[in-house]
Amino acid sequence: RRMTHRPTVLAVALAFCAVASAFDLQGHRGARGLRPENTLPAFQQALALGVDTIETDVGITADGVVVISHDPFLNPAITRDAAGQWLAAPRGPLIRSLTLAQLQTYDLGRLQPDTPYAKSLPEQQAVDGTHMPTLAQLFDLVKARGATQVRFNIETKINPTQPDGTVGPEAMTQALLKVVREAGMTGRVTIQSFDWRTLKLMQKLEPAIPTVCLTVQAPGNDNTKDGNWTAGLKIADHGRAPKMAKAAGCAAWSPNQGAVTEALVKEAQSLGLKVVPWTVNDPAVMDRLIGWGVDGLISDYPDHLRAVMAKRGMVLPAAAK
Ligand code: G3P
Ligand code: CA
Repeated sequence: RRMTHRPTVLAVALAFCAVASAFDLQGHRGARGLRPENTLPAFQQALALGVDTIETDVGITADGVVVISHDPFLNPAITRDAAGQWLAAPRGPLIRSLTLAQLQTYDLGRLQPDTPYAKSLPEQQAVDGTHMPTLAQLFDLVKARGATQVRFNIETKINPTQPDGTVGPEAMTQALLKVVREAGMTGRVTIQSFDWRTLKLMQKLEPAIPTVCLTVQAPGNDNTKDGNWTAGLKIADHGRAPKMAKAAGCAAWSPNQGAVTEALVKEAQSLGLKVVPWTVNDPAVMDRLIGWGVDGLISDYPDHLRAVMAKRGMVLPAAAK
């Protein structure tokens, strides 16, 4: 009787170790460093290189479709209209003001030349004729490529200080969950946000989906201070960001790379949180953070991150066909 139980216990322990030790390589906006951000070509590139997780951002159109966009408006740095004209700065129309059909008349396949944004992404290859994808299209693409292990870290792009810029937190969270469920992806997503209201809502609506508390702590840009972004939690009441993330019910804490220390990584992990800093593009920083024991990294350059991991002898995620 004992003999029959031992292999089972061993198998469970080994499986747990495998999961617990797996490093999470996340391609930021697909692979923004290499292809137009948050587009199907960027996601294809991430899959072709091999990532564990596709990081992406969502908004809701005027006709209620969950689309993939970092900005709540069409960003002139990456957007041309149907006539090929770059949109005028500082911003194009709100995503929420256009239907999916209207949005898809715009071309997102190229960086506007000579802009600071284009200069910050010198390796990005243009793919003209690329349109804003829906979240459902991303799920379809990953299914079509047979990438059955790839996960999705989906950010609700909503700003509590600009409530008119998007639909509200309830509408956004519900619409997102509907698409995730319809695609059968409940077991393969995490939901991340700087606006923790959407995370609290998701925890209630679908407790099986892990939530990721995003923080930014930089001079002049800090979402941990006044409670507006963090569903009422304030860092002054908790001491440090990991404790806030834990109090918010998150499974992971995702800080900006400049705000992470080795002590904070250990503190968060001792609270049972995964630590996945964003957005790390310098190989030396990648290497240092991996040395500190982070659970994953979000990078615009999955290729560079893979190289750093390979040098360390880490297991690399498989490339899709
Ligand atoms: O995953 C977090 C990271 O994506 C946040 O930065 O501005 O690129 O969405 P942003
Ligand atoms: Ca994001």
